[in-house]
Amino acid sequence: MLKGKHILLGVTGGIAAYKSAELIRLFIKTGCSVKVIMTRHATEFITPLTLQTLSGNPVFMDMFSLIRDHDIAHIALAEEADVLVIAPATANIIGKMAAGLADDLLTTVALATKAPVLICPAMNTNMYENAIVRENMRKLASRGCHIMAAGEGELACKTEGSGRLPDLQDILDEVQSLLTEKDLAGKRILVTAGPTREPFDPVRFITNYSSGKMGYALAIVARRRGAAVTLISGPTVLPVPSGVDFIPVSSALEMREAVMQHLKTADMVIKSAAVADFRPSTRADDKIKKKSGPLTLTLERNPDILAEIGKKKEGRILIGFAMESEDLVENAKAKLMKKNLDLIVANDVKQSGAGFQTDTNIVKILDRAGGIEELPLMDKMEVAGRILDRAKQLFK
Ligand code: PMT
Repeated sequence: MLKGKHILLGVTGGIAAYKSAELIRLFIKTGCSVKVIMTRHATEFITPLTLQTLSGNPVFMDMFSLIRDHDIAHIALAEEADVLVIAPATANIIGKMAAGLADDLLTTVALATKAPVLICPAMNTNMYENAIVRENMRKLASRGCHIMAAGEGELACKTEGSGRLPDLQDILDEVQSLLTEKDLAGKRILVTAGPTREPFDPVRFITNYSSGKMGYALAIVARRRGAAVTLISGPTVLPVPSGVDFIPVSSALEMREAVMQHLKTADMVIKSAAVADFRPSTRADDKIKKKSGPLTLTLERNPDILAEIGKKKEGRILIGFAMESEDLVENAKAKLMKKNLDLIVANDVKQSGAGFQTDTNIVKILDRAGGIEELPLMDKMEVAGRILDRAKQLFK
């Protein structure tokens, strides 16, 4: 989603400056171009050569250097940028920006650019909590700068508290969000993701291979597009997406309860979770001992959450998934009608690159009028975007 975008990264003089190297790598992986402005203090912590090598562009430090023969550096950089990210942002740069100073290249570009400005603070806890720094951040926020909350934990100065550079993945998410059109603003979307676990003793359960990637992609992209997102997720190893209301659950019954609790406020529900259809009828209080001979488990049906929501739709848009291993379209069509859905996203788990665990999926989107949109192999983030494009049309 950042492909072709120009990111201007301002690096200022704090110990977290070393993390800017990794941040550049994350940006570059998305296909965007990165140019770096370093303050003089930043060069005490990390060399311009490192950032130049990683970004593949010259690093800018001087106010009066000339680029493209005649363009003045600060104007050219300010105009070219799609976003200015300042990471790490010290108390000093925040103070200078809040005062409207322009005494070096970075502060000058920050004043000259019309691009969104994202400030990622990193400093000692006492400095971060200092009333003047707080006031400066509030002032910048009121003037349209986007300020991320600093992370918490152990700081380089051996204290514990807030003041760490925000997580690099969260910075990347925030940049992607800033550069995404907010065409789902005002919409409240409930997404389910991941597998469910159906225990039969304290240490064992029945589950499936869902990693949660498809559902998390939907939650992340919907949030970037301005929707208020509630993500109800079975157990996964994925990081919690920033900016979403996250509700972890384990079993199908827990997922049902959470969905029903949050249904009232949702304009749309997207059920990508792989909910176990059956659960063991009993759960032993203690670990079941190994005995000779087979162990017989009796399973009972779990509630079909999606079908239940379909019965009380009340004007909300309902999108289901169909995970099939045969007769993809026929089975998906039957589920679309039976569960009273607006759209169903069908994927064939036997197809390579589709379904469980992979970063990609191959889906067909079926609607009630009999339309079938066939999508090629795509990254799950792109698939999520295409599903949300269809969802947006339904809102109209
Ligand atoms: O998580 P990943 O590794 O990224 O994999 C993605 C995925 C394969 C899990 C996803 O793309 C997908 O297909 N999700 C739906 C899985 C599923 O349970 O399909 P189903 O055909 O069994 O169910 C149909 C629909 O009813 C689904 O929307 C499901 O969430 C819902 N359902 C099913 C059973 C049940 N008891 N309650 C439900 O709400």
